[in-house]
This record gives sequence, C-alpha cells and structure tokens, in this order.
Amino acid sequence: MCGIVGAVAERNITAVLVEGLKRLEYRGYDSAGVALLNDQGELHRSRRVGKVSELEAALSQEPLAGRLGIAHTRWATHGAPSERNAHPHFSGHDLAVVHNGIIENHEELREQLKSLGYVFSSDTDTEVIVHLLNHTLKIQPDLTAALKEAVKQLHGAYGLAVISAKQPDRLLAARSGSPLVIGLGLGENFLASDQLALRQVTDRFMYLEEGDIAEIQRDSVQIWDAAGQPVVRESVQYHEGAEAADKGEYRHFMLKEIHEQPKVVQRTLEGRLGSDHVLVQAFGPQAAELFGKVRNVQIVACGTSYHAGMVARYWLEGLAGIPCQVEVASEFRYRKVVVQPDTLFVSISQSGETADTLAALRNAKEHAPDKGGYLASLAICNVGISSLVRESDLTLLTQAGPEIGVASTKAFTTQLVALMLLTLSLGQVRGTLDKTLEAELVEELRRLPTRLGEALAMDSVVEKVSELFAEKHHSLFLGRGAQYPVAMEGALKLKEISYIHAEAYPAGELKHGPLALVDSDMPVVTVAPNNELLEKLKSNLQEVRARGGELLVFADEQAGMRNGEGTHVVNMPHIHDALAPILYTIPLQLLSYYVAVLKGTDVDQPRNLAKSVTVE
Ligand code: G6P
Repeated sequence: MCGIVGAVAERNITAVLVEGLKRLEYRGYDSAGVALLNDQGELHRSRRVGKVSELEAALSQEPLAGRLGIAHTRWATHGAPSERNAHPHFSGHDLAVVHNGIIENHEELREQLKSLGYVFSSDTDTEVIVHLLNHTLKIQPDLTAALKEAVKQLHGAYGLAVISAKQPDRLLAARSGSPLVIGLGLGENFLASDQLALRQVTDRFMYLEEGDIAEIQRDSVQIWDAAGQPVVRESVQYHEGAEAADKGEYRHFMLKEIHEQPKVVQRTLEGRLGSDHVLVQAFGPQAAELFGKVRNVQIVACGTSYHAGMVARYWLEGLAGIPCQVEVASEFRYRKVVVQPDTLFVSISQSGETADTLAALRNAKEHAPDKGGYLASLAICNVGISSLVRESDLTLLTQAGPEIGVASTKAFTTQLVALMLLTLSLGQVRGTLDKTLEAELVEELRRLPTRLGEALAMDSVVEKVSELFAEKHHSLFLGRGAQYPVAMEGALKLKEISYIHAEAYPAGELKHGPLALVDSDMPVVTVAPNNELLEKLKSNLQEVRARGGELLVFADEQAGMRNGEGTHVVNMPHIHDALAPILYTIPLQLLSYYVAVLKGTDVDQPRNLAKSVTVE
C-alpha cells in the first residue's frame, strides 16, 4: 500500500522525509521516491525500485536538499514496479505530485492531456493528475485554486501531496477516499498518509476529512471542505501508547484489538471503493484482465484465516456466481489436487509466513496454467513484506496493523472485508453481479465501521452473558449459511483462550449427532441468520430447549427473537444479510474474551499456541 510524506520547514527536510517513509515500510511497497525544492528554486527528485534503504543509499551518493518536499512509497496498481513509474511524478520542471489511491478515469484524461501536448513518461494513473494540474494552472495560476479545480475532474480515490517551484511557500494536500494527516510543528508543518510517519517530528495532528483540500505553509494551515468552504479541523495531541505495541487503556491486547476493528476495517476499505463499485485495480495492475478470465476460485489458509475463506465461499458463489473451494493448507499441500481450468489460487494469512499456507502456494505455482495449473495467485495478507506477498502474483493487503494477541480478531474481520472486495470485484469484471446489488453493498461497506462500533457498544451485555460459561466444560456453536463459519470462528476463539471445549456445527446437522450431547451442562451458542433460514434455525433451537440445553442467541433486532426460560437473546444492530458475518463475529470475540477473563487464563498468550506457525 502506498505511503505519503511531505514537509514544509525552514531546515533541510530530506532526513525527515526518508525517516517518514521508513516508518511506513510495514505497509508494503515496491519502490520509493522523494522530490525536494532546493534553495536555488529548482525541483529535483530521486527514485528507486526496492527498499527505502536503496533510496537512502542513492541520496547519499547524490544528495538532495530542500525546505519543501514530498516523498512516497509505491505499491503498483497501474504500471509495473519500476523507477519511471515510481512517484513523485513531474509535469515540466516545476510541479511534483505523489498520490495514493486509484484514478479511474485516467485513460480518458490521459488522451485529453496528450492531445494538449503533454508527454507521459510513466504508465501510472498518477501522472495524469500532475499534467492536469499543470494545465489548470495555465488558466488559474494560483496553485491552491488550481488544485481545487483540477480534482473536480478526478474519479476514483486519492490522497495527494503537491508542490510547485513557482509557489515555494506551500505544500498542498487533497483527500478523497485515501487518508491524510497534517502534522503540526513549530514554524514547520508536515503531511503524511499515516501519523506513524510523523511521530519523530511532532505529536500534534490534524486529520483531513473526505473532500478536504489543505494549503500547508510553515506557520499556517488552511483547509477547505468538499463544498469548498473554509473549515477548521480539530488538532489532536497524540499520547504515546495510544497505539502500536502498547495495551493503552485496555487490560489485554486482545480487547484492544477487538475495539480497533471499526478503525482497521475503515483502513482496509480506504482507497478501494468508488462511488458505487469496488476499484478492481486495488488488486494490482493485472487484476482487471486476470479477473476477467477467472472461472473458479481455490482458497487455502489455516486457523482463523481458513474460517475467513469459508465465509468467502458463500459470498463468491452466492453473490458473484463463481465456483469456489476452500481447504486447510496442511491438507491441501499433501493432496493430489485436480485443478479446474482458469482457477484463481487465493491464500489468506495474517502473517504471510505460515508454513503450510506458503507450501500450498509454492505447490500451486509449480505448474504453469497451460499445463493444467492455476491462472494466478492472490494473497490476502496483513504483512506487506511477508513471503506470501512476495511470492504471489496479486496481493490485497488487509490494514489490521500489528496484531499482538495470539487469538486473531481484527485480522479476521479485515480479511472478511478484503474477501468481500474480491467477491464484488470478480462479480463486476465477469458481469455476474447485479450492478444495483454491488452499489448497495458498497454503501453497506461504507457504513460497516459504524455498525461495528454499535456492536462493540454491547460489550457489557456480552460480558454479562459470559457468566453462563464460567463453570462449563463444553459448548456447542450453531450457525447456518455464511454464519456457520462464523460459529466455527466463535468456537475456535472460545477454545483457544478459555480452554473450554467448543464445537461448531451447521445447525441442520444437529439431529445427526451433536443433539445426543445436549443437556443443561452444554450451553449452545447460536448465530442467527436474518433471512429465509431463520425459521429453520428456530426449530433447531426448540430441539435444544426440549433437551434442557441453555441457549445464547445472537439475532438481528428485527428478527423478533425474545428472551425466555433458558434462552438468552442478544439483539444485534440490523445489517445487510451479506455483511452479517462480519458484524456477528464481534460479540463472539467478546464472549470468548470475557469467559477467559472469568476463568483467569492467559488471554493474550494462551498455552501451547503461537501467533505465527512457521514450522509444520
Ligand atoms: C496460528 C494463529 C492463528 C492463525 C493461524 C494462521 O494458529 O494462532 O490465530 O489464524 O496461525 O495464521 P496466519 O498468519 O496464516 O493467518
């Protein structure tokens, strides 16, 4: 994922920019670059494929200095990773831009700009922005006013930083679908796509909102909102320990990570949604072409990531109409597999280093497509510099940030979001997904962080019902449809951290065995669907009650389920059926957490388990 750093100061800011880029390295990138305006008023840049350290080495050979500058780490979406495609991009000698996100109408703009005489030196969508701005400056010579005009023509998602040799007093920023934060210093100010990049220079931040344009000078910041009106954005003091490897106000990392979910889901969506559709290029430069050829999907993963894959099968087949198989990597890697023609191989992993998942990917890559192999490989991963990402053809990074608790929480929900983006992208490119439904789901995805916040607000309700489990040794989790894998994930969480034996079943299988186990010592947790399967589930629940089993039901507030003797209903905020698996994961995570706290187990480091299983 791309990263932006910018600065306007009275001192040379080269080191600040490079250090900022280093702090963004964890997000994953393939090239890096920096542009600085020197004291002679000339704009110079340096760009390198590979690590920031290579850019740094280049800068020590041929130093650049300046008091105004922008820098970038690029993750290729349009055009291969190469020096000519790396940012900053220039138009002429005076204007430089760095960009995160995707400009959808870049082809059309490129043609228009070419006909006006602009010469393109890269394959990127970003280069159209800088030439478009240059062209707008011919009519409107003020840089800020020109940027306001130029962005009106951009469709898609962007976070932009702009500098011009002609207006050396200012650093400009524009945000639409890709985050930007201003760092406030004394007599100097900064800009970045993530405040992490700027903690070395300041602890005061101002977050830009959607549609904002900012003019940042050494001693002032002016912002205009989406309607073009001047606005004041609140500045926030950052306190050490509010993020990263610190529990902050929380008792455990796991609880902190559960509560981070609205924010990290939001980050995972950033720059990937258009007005009414998913931006397919978020999967990489070749994604649109490759996705058009995909006729089957094979998902491989372990543990929690495998459960995310199980949910995705319901989505890929149910929404995008594409056949999908899912298998745990440790089985898949040792099995002789018959590969269907034009199958996309998808691996899902938080760490990107899980031995079985990596081995499965390596096996899958052994055969070329023309010898009955996979069409391409896609990694859905949380670590940009992992082996899985390096070895896959395409990648979609989840933006969960570092996950410390061994029991995976925010990694899972961000994987689900990524898999929903994949579903919508495949459906869109293959024409198998109804456009109205796609628009509806994109809107629902935008609302998802708020819905997750509502589910988290039920923390104390879930804490109360967790008392049901304190003395129990066994439990059963039931679900139907896409909520069945959610029940599996809920059972996994409970056993991982509270050591209570928990099994998940598709509710329809209850009568085929597990019902024999049900009595008053076996609580049954149910994730209720809010669709045509609800009535069927209600009869399963009757079967449990008739055997004295105590029920804990998570159900949509509109589903009309009520508390009763031995039945505890937790009402969930209403949500689109397709996104319910993401929302219902939250109370199950909280449930396992509070049961573990009651039992006094080691929540963050459960016995015998490791965060990343890098050996067989
Ligand atoms: C371990 C972790 C789990 C994780 C699984 C797969 O078992 O404890 O939380 O789901 O590995 O890890 P991955 O990094 O590939 O998602």
